Amino acid sequence: MTERLGIIEIGTQLIYYVFSSLMLFWALWKCFWDGKRNRIVLFILTALSNSMIGLFLAVYGGISFSMSVIEPLFPRVLGYSMPYRIAEVNPFLIAGPLYIARILFMAWLCGKWLKVKNYSSVLFLFLMFGAVDIVAIFRDSGNINEIVHPEVRYIISIVGMIAAFVSLCLFYILDVKPFSKLAKVSAKVNWKIFNIPPIVFILVYTITAGESLSNNENELLLFMLFLFSTMIIFLFIWAFYVIIRNIHETNEAVKAKEEVKTLSVEVMEALAHTIDAKDEYTRGHSVRVAKYSKMLAEKLGLSKEDCDNVYYMGLLHDIGKIGVPNEIINSKSKLTEEEYAVIKTHPGVGYGILDEIKSRPDLSIGARWHHERYDGKGYPDGKAGEDIPFFARIIAVADSYDAMTSNRSYRHYLTQDAVRSEIQKNEGTQFDPKIAECMIELMAEDKNFEMHE
Ligand SMILES: [Fe+2]
Repeated sequence: MTERLGIIEIGTQLIYYVFSSLMLFWALWKCFWDGKRNRIVLFILTALSNSMIGLFLAVYGGISFSMSVIEPLFPRVLGYSMPYRIAEVNPFLIAGPLYIARILFMAWLCGKWLKVKNYSSVLFLFLMFGAVDIVAIFRDSGNINEIVHPEVRYIISIVGMIAAFVSLCLFYILDVKPFSKLAKVSAKVNWKIFNIPPIVFILVYTITAGESLSNNENELLLFMLFLFSTMIIFLFIWAFYVIIRNIHETNEAVKAKEEVKTLSVEVMEALAHTIDAKDEYTRGHSVRVAKYSKMLAEKLGLSKEDCDNVYYMGLLHDIGKIGVPNEIINSKSKLTEEEYAVIKTHPGVGYGILDEIKSRPDLSIGARWHHERYDGKGYPDGKAGEDIPFFARIIAVADSYDAMTSNRSYRHYLTQDAVRSEIQKNEGTQFDPKIAECMIELMAEDKNFEMHE
């Protein structure tokens, strides 16, 4: 009976390891070579991180085997050879770091596969499995094997394998689907993710500890062990609960922030289109000025935040035109002095409108000073040189560039050469020389002259 059970145990383990190794290679192949991604691959990778399987055993088994080969070659001291002593210690020296390395490796694989932005979420899932493993280690350290009858031990081992398989199936049904959603930053964490440690825990303990407690020897010790590992696993679950809840809250905050930002940009773009719609000859002007201003800012090496800000200022720089009558804006004849005076009010009007947006006080800068000139001959304030805010000087260059590269009622847009010489001519008078040079560089990069209306 014992012999037959022994063969069945070895046979089951052998099939288990061969099958697992094949699954690992299949999963890796699917992930990295075949390019097909599905949930079953995640399931397999996660299942393979169980401590009974995989790299850990391969490496540890290799070391133990080498030790058994080397051992007889050394003289015995006090009944134990040196390699044997090392081998005795090595489960702790080697298995610990290997165990951590395996968890990190598996988490990294899954993170890569899921294209996860937040790797920690994957890592925590694997650490949960780690918690279950730790309980398993505690269980083994109770020397159960020495006090339990061999036949019972074999049955436990086989039933344990079946239990592990069932718990993994449960894991797939309950957790893999919700977990795959974790990959998206905005996704909500499903609380089912906490199911698996208790499931595995209960399965392992009903089988092992339950049986051990029925044995008369070391009853108290095993019961204490049971209590201790129960406490440990619940501490782990509590820690993961806190961590995942934090990830969940961060995700929600990030999502809300992104939504507000998208809405703001869309509102600003809608406003820009409204302004441009007033003038039949400057359709798309504001969006183009915003785009060119941002390109200039990037070329000038400004931070991403500043580049975005200059884009928004560009979008709204002409918002004051809302206060200018359509007849003046669309006038086909030369503007009278009075009409020109009305046009010149638009920076002030724009400033007044944007100044109301208290959360973004900088938005009004572009509107107010984009018609200032470097030599101080611009309007509305006649500011000169560095007195003109830097972002307004950028928008001024982008604004003039777009005016020259757009069709007007009286002319076609200018050639690239004409625009270039016009900018160079006005460097230091109309334009900030540094920004004007930057514009020339952008034009040089625009070989096919795509930057026009
Ligand atoms: Fe303007």
